[in-house]
This record gives sequence, C-alpha cells and structure tokens, in this order.
Amino acid sequence: MNIDNNSSSNRGHWTSAFGFIMAAAGSAVGLGNLWKFPYLVGQNGGSAFIVIYALLLLFIGIPLVIAEITIGRFGQLNPVGSYGLISPKLKWIGAMGLVTGFILLAFYPVVGGWIVYYLYHSFVSVGENPDYAKIFADYTSNPTLPIITLFIFSILNYIIVALGVEKGIEKYSKIMMPALLVILVIVMIRTLSLEGSWEGVKFIFQPDFSKVTGKVILSAVGQVFFSLSLGMGALMTYGSYLSKKDNLFKSSISIPFIDTLVALLATIAIMPAVFAFKFEPAAGPSLIFVTLPAIFAKMPMGVFISAIFFILMLFAALTSSISMLEGLVSYMIDRWHWKRFTATTIIALIVFLLGIPCSLSFGMLKDVTIFSNKTIFDSMDFLASNILLPLGGILMAICVGWIWDGGLRYETIIVKNQKGNPDVITNGYVFNSCLMEITNQGTLNFPFMSAWIFIVKWVAPLVIFLIFIDNL
Ligand code: PHE
Repeated sequence: MNIDNNSSSNRGHWTSAFGFIMAAAGSAVGLGNLWKFPYLVGQNGGSAFIVIYALLLLFIGIPLVIAEITIGRFGQLNPVGSYGLISPKLKWIGAMGLVTGFILLAFYPVVGGWIVYYLYHSFVSVGENPDYAKIFADYTSNPTLPIITLFIFSILNYIIVALGVEKGIEKYSKIMMPALLVILVIVMIRTLSLEGSWEGVKFIFQPDFSKVTGKVILSAVGQVFFSLSLGMGALMTYGSYLSKKDNLFKSSISIPFIDTLVALLATIAIMPAVFAFKFEPAAGPSLIFVTLPAIFAKMPMGVFISAIFFILMLFAALTSSISMLEGLVSYMIDRWHWKRFTATTIIALIVFLLGIPCSLSFGMLKDVTIFSNKTIFDSMDFLASNILLPLGGILMAICVGWIWDGGLRYETIIVKNQKGNPDVITNGYVFNSCLMEITNQGTLNFPFMSAWIFIVKWVAPLVIFLIFIDNL
C-alpha cells in the first residue's frame, strides 16, 4: 500500500521539519510547563521533584514520544485510523484518545480564558494594597465573565485550527514558540536581578529527597504525560502530517528537550521572585494567578513584565489547545470526510459548551462534585491527566512493543529483482514494521534502538502499571 498517495491530498503536511518541531513543541509546552511544573516543584521539595521528573522523562516520556509520533507517521491518519492500520482491533485505543481530547478541551481552555482576563488585568489599576486572592476568587466565581473570556480563548483556538495545518497551526506555532522563548528569558532575567532571588535558585537546585513520597512520584508521572502531550493522540496527529522522507527520530527528540527547558526556565523565572518577595513557594495552583500578580505589583517595571508574562502564557496555552482540537478535527476529516471548516466549527462549539460547566464549577456549580469530592473542573483534570493519559500511554506501549512487535526478527529475506523474481535469498535480521517506520525502511540510523525497544516493551507499561496500583 502506498500510504503517502492515498491520504495526503486534503490532509495537509508540515512544510518543514522546523515547522513540525515548533508545532509539536508548541503542543507540549503549555500550562503544564508554565503553571503546573513550577507549583509542583514548589510543593514537592524543590529539585528532588525535578530529579524524579527527569528520570521518568528519560526512561518513559522520551521513548513514548517517539512511539506515538511513529504510529501517526506510519498511519498518516488520525489516531483511530492510525491504530486501525496496525490492527483493526486496536481502533478503540485511538477512540479513547479522542474521548480524552474532549475532556481536556473541557477544562484547559477555561484556564486559557483566565489568562486572557489576567492579560487585560495587567493594564488595569486595582487600587492600593489589593487582595489578589479575592480578585481571583471574585473573577472565577463570577457567572458570566469567565465564560466570556473562555469564549475569547476558544475563538482564537478555533481560528487557528480552521485555517489548517500549514496556514494555521504551523504558521502560528512558528511565530508563537520563538516569541515565547524570548519573553520567558526576559522575565527570567528580570526575576534573577531582584534582590533576594538567590534563595529561590538555591531552593530549585538543592534536592531535598526527604520530601519524595509515592504521591510525589505519582504526580511526577502524571506531569510527564500531561506536559509532553502524551497519550491522547495529539502528537500522533501531528506525526501524521510528517512526510515519509523526514527523519522522524531527529525531529521528535528535540520536543521533550524544548519542553523540559521551558519548564525549568519557567521555574527559574517564577520561584526566585516568590522568595525575593517572601511569598509561599508551596502556594499550589494559585501561584500564577494570585502570587505572581502580587509580585508583579511590587516589582519595578511590573506592568510591563506582567503583560508580557501573560502574553507568554497565552501563546503557550493556545499552541497546546490547538493540538487537542486538531486531534478531534482530523478524525472528522479522515473518517467522515467533513470539510475542515465544518469539522472545526462543530467540534469547537461542542467543546465550548463542555467548558461552561467546568468554568462554573468555581462559582455557581462549586458544590457539584464528581470524583471523591472533586469539582467538575478538578474531576476533568484528574480524569484526563492522572488516569486517561497514562492509560493511553500504557496501551500505546503495549501496542508498539508487543502487538506491532518491538524487536528484530531472524528471517529468510528474499530480495526480488526488477521482474519480481527472487534474486537474493538469505537468512538474516529484519526490522519489523515499527522500526522500519522510524528508520525510513532501514535507511536511517536510530540511536539507542535496543534500549528503546526494551523500554517500550517492559519498562514503560510496568512502571506506569505499578504507579497506578500504588495509587489505588
Ligand atoms: N502538554 C500540554 C501542556 O503542557 C497539555 C496537553 C496535554 C496538550 C495533552 C495536548 C495533549 O500544557
């Protein structure tokens, strides 16, 4: 089967390897890096958390990023279609990813809306000695304002995806991602030049392993999956727009590094300021929306820093949520032959409606709980980040390592001549199709191949499984 010819017509393709890297890194770099990572570091004993995170990243995250992109590039289709090409019996794993996508899109853009509001707020005076915790609570519990900002964020998300792979996602990621890095460095320099910031740097880089518990490891696993966009098929969809000629390994390997770099830079940009102004490093989720605005207000050039910081957050959140939306849209386009415009409009509308109860769970619906006393918003976050993404990861690893096969096979190789008659018959090792895909039919080098196979087959499924059990 010539997969390239059969599907490339209206699906779109990245115009360059750089375009793919920016889009995929854009998917990975998001609220997970700028919002969750710094507060998890703050809550879980500084760099001890970073060390655990780095180990999980190296031994599970990076190999699975390669696996997910490989499935997409192999199938040149949405997650359901690509799994289906490995075996029709596996389509449900892709379908589970689509469900995860809907759940992510229910709560993630709500925070995107908060960012829109705080960006606007950067320019508005809030009076003498404002109570930032109250400002945040008043805003998020308001019945209409957060829905309006959710709507604004959703429209931006919608426009970029409706514009398509090259003219929307790739084009805007190529602008937003480099801009994001520059802004992050500016904010970091500003923070590090504050008096007393050194305490924060020490906090980040001096490990305190006494803080490491089972729960810390669990949250690190969830964070690896969430931050790398792993397990729902977002990277798979982006991989499906790679051409069969691209060097998959080379392009994919930079994504986890950019993602981790941004998470570390964000932590260095935020934590030292928390220390310099004597705030609580373990503030948790409110770090960005309560602690930081208070810090910006005290900081020389605070309005400027606050505005560019929230622009940075907006870019990061957008490039991630477009990848969630694209996974769903690509399914409608491939499977049901919908026009991109129709598919994007309908899905964007549905997820906007799903976002409303999540948004209201900070106000009107705050007493409605789903899982063990978690609000609607928290339940969606928990279900997607801590359960469905790692579960999608285990299933993907099992599929690639065991069903799609993961090793070398000793076989009789028959090389045919131009007339199609057997020319050379020999015994030797052949790559199975998964490794064939990564190496472009054996023509490219794939470093650490045996280690990768071992991890995908054994380490990743077992470790995630054990952490799940521990959690139950
Ligand atoms: N990786 C994104 C972040 O860090 C979130 C995300 C998860 C995006 C899953 C796509 C799929 O914010």
